[in-house]
Amino acid sequence: MNRLSSIAMALCILLFAPSYAGDASITRYTFTKDVQPILQENCQDCHRPDGKNFGGMIAPMSLVSYEETRPWAMLMAQKVLSREMPPWDAHPDFNGIFSNERTLDETEIAAIVGWANQGAQRGNPDDAPAPREFAATEGGWLEGIPDLIVNIPVAFNVGDDVNDIYTAFSVDLTDAMLPEDVYIQGFQTKPGVNSVHHFNAHILPPDANGELPPSPTQGESDTLSPVGAGLYLGGMASGSEANMYPIGYGVPLLRGTRVTFDIHYHKQPGAGTGAVDDKSQIGFYFTREPPKSAVGGSTMMRFDIDIPPGEPSYMMEQISSPIQEESEIVLLMPHMHLRGKAAMFEALYPDGTAEVLIEIPGYDFAWQTVYYYKDMKPLPEGSRLKFTAWYDNSEEYSRERGFDPSENVRFGQKSSDEMMMGFVMLAPIVN
Ligand code: HEC
Repeated sequence: MNRLSSIAMALCILLFAPSYAGDASITRYTFTKDVQPILQENCQDCHRPDGKNFGGMIAPMSLVSYEETRPWAMLMAQKVLSREMPPWDAHPDFNGIFSNERTLDETEIAAIVGWANQGAQRGNPDDAPAPREFAATEGGWLEGIPDLIVNIPVAFNVGDDVNDIYTAFSVDLTDAMLPEDVYIQGFQTKPGVNSVHHFNAHILPPDANGELPPSPTQGESDTLSPVGAGLYLGGMASGSEANMYPIGYGVPLLRGTRVTFDIHYHKQPGAGTGAVDDKSQIGFYFTREPPKSAVGGSTMMRFDIDIPPGEPSYMMEQISSPIQEESEIVLLMPHMHLRGKAAMFEALYPDGTAEVLIEIPGYDFAWQTVYYYKDMKPLPEGSRLKFTAWYDNSEEYSRERGFDPSENVRFGQKSSDEMMMGFVMLAPIVN
């Protein structure tokens, strides 16, 4: 031991002398007492047999029993220290603001790390909490059986030779399917085959005469959404869950609405990789009572992306037009592709001040997260929203995310192209 560290050591012992009564005062972490409750609350949604499938992100192992968890102790400690697990990319300054937050506090991290470092002991079985019960995710519906299920309208086959297909299918709701106007509390897009890479839902209500324009064209398209498909609702991509609005908020779904399935199929071509008769579905959950406000969407997007090869920090921003009525923000969702690295939403108030709503310093394409406010965020009339996105096309980042850094990157649908999209859902405040 060198001189400096022995002084430090002596100081430590001195400082902690009153409480340093030998080993007894060191916290002894055990699985049953300290770790199991943390895993139940923060990990088992995904890490259990039949855990939640977040758009293809399926946890590789179960962390339920001691026997299952024990071999992972060191890796768990590493992943919680680096804050890679549980997956949540927002800056900790924004902890406590969003209802679907997945984070551990310092004490919980210390417990997992301490337990792993002390040999990952089981502890007293009597200390164990009762096992957590999980609602059945019947047939892949994460929020239970929906009130209205809309099926893909054609028998669609994905050929063995297919690499990417972008296509749209629409269904005009009949009275038998939806006899009256409702509000939806949420929805889920449920892929019918493995090659569904992303799957978005759009709704277009009929006009005042009850009529709909011709259906959006099917087939390859390089625009973000099928033209004329109406309100973009969101959907499913890697790392996403069912889209559920907070109680008291809902999106109107009117009789005769057109529902558009906007699907990207992606896979490596090859014999036996295709699939016949995709059974993709959109499930809507209705609200039981009319919500106090009808939610609508607003999207900040740019198409003039042009990231040079090797560029480590490319930034783009977009500002919305002023909102027409006093509103509340229900949710925020940044969307970029593989080179996306960081994102930020801000509110620009009519008095000239600005407020950062969320900063996402560790944006990860694999985890497409919708950030739902716990308490809705009020915005005065005339406010604007600003979305900023940062991209990294460097060699170093390419090793982490798997892209070709020698490419000049532009807007496009493929993961190897880029997107710049800040999606916000707003509900006017009704008094
Ligand atoms: C939202 C779902 C989800 C939650 C919640 C979650 N995980 Fe994970 N976890 C995953 C997925 C998916 C993977 C594999 C892909 C990846 O690493 O991102 C993973 C990977 C891991 C790995 C690495 C496994 C390997 O072989 O590399 C560890 C360790 C881990 N999780 C521990 C935890 C712990 C501990 C918690 C709770 C504190 C937790 N996870 C919460 C979904 C989740």
